[in-house]
Formats: sequence, C-alpha cells, structure tokens
Amino acid sequence: MNDAKIIKDQRTAVVNEEFCGNCEFCPVTCPYGAISLEPTSEEHFIARISDLLCEGCGTCVGTCPLNAIELRHSRPNQMLAQMKGLMSINGTPKPLVLAICCSECGHTAVDSSGMAMIPYPASVRIMKVPCTGILQVHQLLEAFKSGAQGVMVVGCKSDGCHYEVGVQKAEKKVELAKTLLKEYGIEPDRLAMFNMVFIEGREFAQATQMMTQTLEKLGPLSLTDDSSIKA
Ligand code: FES
Repeated sequence: MNDAKIIKDQRTAVVNEEFCGNCEFCPVTCPYGAISLEPTSEEHFIARISDLLCEGCGTCVGTCPLNAIELRHSRPNQMLAQMKGLMSINGTPKPLVLAICCSECGHTAVDSSGMAMIPYPASVRIMKVPCTGILQVHQLLEAFKSGAQGVMVVGCKSDGCHYEVGVQKAEKKVELAKTLLKEYGIEPDRLAMFNMVFIEGREFAQATQMMTQTLEKLGPLSLTDDSSIKA
C-alpha cells in the first residue's frame, strides 16, 4: 500500500461563494492552474481553488473584480489594518512613505540594505505582501487615505517574479492608480513601482531617498473635498 503523503501549508486562497460571479477572470489569471469553475446551476458557476496546486501568491485576489477571493494568511482587512498601523506614527519630519514589498526580492532587498548597513529614511515603513500581484488598485489609494505621503511598490524584476506574472499585473495596477490619482487632483509621482533583485539593498535605499526627495519637493499631501480619494 502506498502511504506517501504530501505536506503542504495552508497559505492558500479561498473563495467566498456568496460573492463569486460568472466572470471567469481567476482561472485564466492563476499561474498554477489551481482554479477551476464548477457549475452550481445551468447559468451559474463558482470558482474552486485546489489547495494542492495553489502557491498562495494572491494574484487571483488582486484580479477578482468582486473581491470574492482572499488569501487565508493575508486577508484584505488584515492588510488594511497593517497599512493603518504603519502610517499611524511618524517620529521624523520626513514625509511618511509606505513601501509595499513582495516577500521575495522586494523584502529581501530591504533586508540586504539592513545587512550592508545602508541607511534609508526612518519615515519609510515596510509592508510585506506575498507577491505584488495581490495588490488591488483601491488598496494603493487606501494607503494615501491612511496617511501615506508617498507609496512605493517594490517587487521582483518584470521577468523575475517568483510567482510568474504577479509583478507584471502589479505594474499595470500602479499605472492605473496613478491615472486615478491624477483624476483626484493628486500628483501621480507620489506613487511609484520599483523592480529589483534580492541583493539590491543599495538600490532599495536609493529608491527610498529618491521617493523622499520627490515628496519633499511636492510638499504635504492634503486630501481636500476636491481631491478626496474614493477608494
Ligand atoms: Fe516578487 Fe511576485 S514575488 S513581485
């Protein structure tokens, strides 16, 4: 008898069947073929995610237009709470920056800067996500509502995402969010995407300096009625 086992952690995505609709986006988005559609009636079907195939990148979360998918270990309300917590205190005169870093090259580049003792401004707060592909446009806008003067999305190189396509999707969402910021009367330069490999601690520190200088030139962000963000 074959009693071989596969042990896999449960850092996987889960579908809220109540919200799932007939859109078909997630199966084509998932780089691992982990999502299938299951009919529930003649006209309706819902997404099903294989725990075995899912790698927990969150690309489907960032793609679902109905917010019907969550990662078990990184739910949108947890991400928002983390964002608000990171933005709640600033003990420096420098503008607050939220750096949303993927758990692979992005966050390891932050570690590399620390290990090489290359400083970056204390006003830059690091938020780790599995892959930048998990981000939704409204979350980028929420960061400003939470108090960020600038937002950096730090992911792997365009052709080097550890989850295949996540970073490319993030790049498009950053561009879309910049367009929306402009519509709301907010300088798009307050949001930027950076792509790096894990050893680029110096590049990460330089990117934070660059962002901080840009924000200092732009001056404080004040969300008025005219420029209020509808995230
Ligand atoms: Fe780095 Fe996807 S894992 S951006």
